[in-house]
Amino acid sequence: MTVKLTVLASGRGSNFGAILDAIERGELDARVTALISDQSAAPALERARAAGIPTLVQSCRKADKPAFEQAVTEQVQQSGSDLIILAGFMRLLSADFVERHAGRILNIHPSLLPSFKGLDAPVQAVEAGVKISGCTVHVVTADMDAGPIIAQAAVPVQEGDTADTLAARILVEEHRLFPAAIQTYSRQLLVGA
Ligand code: GAR
Repeated sequence: MTVKLTVLASGRGSNFGAILDAIERGELDARVTALISDQSAAPALERARAAGIPTLVQSCRKADKPAFEQAVTEQVQQSGSDLIILAGFMRLLSADFVERHAGRILNIHPSLLPSFKGLDAPVQAVEAGVKISGCTVHVVTADMDAGPIIAQAAVPVQEGDTADTLAARILVEEHRLFPAAIQTYSRQLLVGA
């Protein structure tokens, strides 16, 4: 059974691209019903348009958050989406929204949670001097970057790494991990296994 995804992305959209590539290769049995962004210049929107995926742009700044979340909920209901995928979505979602979609929102974060929550996780990792970092796919709950962990990949921090070189090495693993975790999680959700 094909899982239906609503994807939220704020920027570059390389994780969104990796999800589309995995669908194309037949590794992820999914269909993206819409790409929703809070940033009108997000390159993720271009990738969606090129793939013929409906897009929606709407501000998610504090005052606009209720309207943004209402628009996402309506899109999910109208499309029958099973999961909301946060692929580099850089805004916090309200507790009400998370509760309404409980267990159906997945996020990818560029650290081995529970270490280095929040913004600039690779910067935090380099500053802390850890020798191993990585990425985490987790279920979103009302507490930031704290929901149940679905999958993780470890990435070595190398001598001389900057936040940028580390982030690039982590990103390679993100592109592998996120589609695989969505596939595993959606099988459990749809089949109830
Ligand atoms: C990714 O590294 C993702 O893990 C991170 O933003 C980047 C988005 O890249 N997300 C967070 O930090 C969420 N707190 P992308 O737009 O190329 O997928």
